[in-house]
Amino acid sequence: MIDSSIMYQVYPLSFKDSNGDGHGDILGIIEKLDYLKDLGVDAIWLSPVFKSPMKDFGYDISDYYAIDPLFGTMEDFEKLIKEAHDRNIKVLLDYVANHTSSEHPWFQESKKSPDNTKRNWYVWRNGKGPGIPPNNWISAFGGSSWEYDPATDEWYLHDFLKEQPDLNWRNPEVKKAMIDIFTFYLDKGVDGYRMDAMAFLFEDETYPDDPKNAHYNSQKEIPWYTLKRKYDFNQPEVLPLLHELTEVASRFGNKLLISEIYDSLETLGKLYFRKNDTTHIPFNFDLMTLEWNADVFKNYLESYLKVVGDNIPNFVLSNHDQPRVATRVGQEKARLLAFLQLTLPGIAVIYYGDEIGMKNIPLPADQIKDPLGKLVDRRFGRDSERSPMQWNTASFAGFSSTQPWLPVEADYKQRNVDIFLKKEDSILQLYKNLISLRKSGPALLHGNLSSIEVQSHTVLSFQRKTDVETLSIKLNFSNQPQKIILDRAYKILFSSHAREKGISTTNLELYPYEGILLK
Ligand code: NOJ
Repeated sequence: MIDSSIMYQVYPLSFKDSNGDGHGDILGIIEKLDYLKDLGVDAIWLSPVFKSPMKDFGYDISDYYAIDPLFGTMEDFEKLIKEAHDRNIKVLLDYVANHTSSEHPWFQESKKSPDNTKRNWYVWRNGKGPGIPPNNWISAFGGSSWEYDPATDEWYLHDFLKEQPDLNWRNPEVKKAMIDIFTFYLDKGVDGYRMDAMAFLFEDETYPDDPKNAHYNSQKEIPWYTLKRKYDFNQPEVLPLLHELTEVASRFGNKLLISEIYDSLETLGKLYFRKNDTTHIPFNFDLMTLEWNADVFKNYLESYLKVVGDNIPNFVLSNHDQPRVATRVGQEKARLLAFLQLTLPGIAVIYYGDEIGMKNIPLPADQIKDPLGKLVDRRFGRDSERSPMQWNTASFAGFSSTQPWLPVEADYKQRNVDIFLKKEDSILQLYKNLISLRKSGPALLHGNLSSIEVQSHTVLSFQRKTDVETLSIKLNFSNQPQKIILDRAYKILFSSHAREKGISTTNLELYPYEGILLK
């Protein structure tokens, strides 16, 4: 994996349906590899494709060694690895380690009786009294994190749905079984993992109540945040385990592990490390929530890059758990963010469809499928950012020949890959051009980032520099034109807006939300 890779998240259920059942599948992904190649993608990461009752759309796995029939077969998966590798595209899988599905045979055994050999594979505790759970922890999907089992009069832990019981990683047998799964797919040739919910893996062994969070904001945050997750989140055991998994992965060559951990920069700073050719990094989700203000972005970039040091930075604009970037900030700002993401160093993570500016779809209450939307509050539901990829103007946006599992966005006839490939000023062309510039020159590929500055609180600028090339990037965060005076004559290499390229200038008037690349 090179340090400036373009990583593309495929949400398999919604990417391309090859067999007309309304659900995306692995053969569908293979059909679209040429598109991804042409876009400039270096690696794809797939949300889970393993056997699952789909209570959490694949994040509830009942057999880690089988591909869910909805997605295809193990042969299809092996073909995907081969076809992707033939095109120089790496494949990362989703490693769901915190929990299995309640339908997993391990849990089926575990719940049989307190002396079952698999009892200790999950986290079982006594309640505090009749009907009272072991402590006050609440699950990410609402209600207590504990589910009562009347047959054995004990409670089991589930950080997410009750159908997603937490594995007990303190049990060496569990650890071994989970590392076997980890190596099984590395052995098949996958290039690494996106590692799900890693901060949830361990709990304090004395199971105390978590303190209340006085700063909880019910408008913006799910009820999980009503507590400060002192005893059931990011426990000290996580870091050594990540080191160990990195060590294991490194035996298979050049691999990338990228962990899903939402936490402070200080905590995340400890999670960058390498072992031989293998790298572990935590996702950087901060660009999804940063206030729209050039000064805030400048300060943030400085702090983040300091924390990352010599390791590989990464920047995420959306994923399957968060509202899409075009919905959060609108199309113009989404273009500017893409400009920023693709000119910054490190791995740029693109969520499928963001390259055509796909938006969150409106969804009537009776069509909500996501457990977060159903059980907690529809405001937090994640279906809206998981709508089918918009390929062309055919029915169902060319995603499927039949009604897809989630509705297609209403504007797909105007907003789709086919049309945007032909439209010079489309967001897709912006992505393609920036990715190709990024790959063609030394400065964007591996130049240092320096001189982060803000002019008039509106224009963020920085340089990318190697011994042989210096590029300057300027981004107008405001909805007004901005005049800028340059310190010398620069050549205009590329702009997000229609503007004459190749000419030299010492001053410029940037369009509202324009991004520009100068040499
Ligand atoms: C994080 C995943 O991104 C999310 O989609 C899922 O619901 C939870 N982990 C539980 O696995």
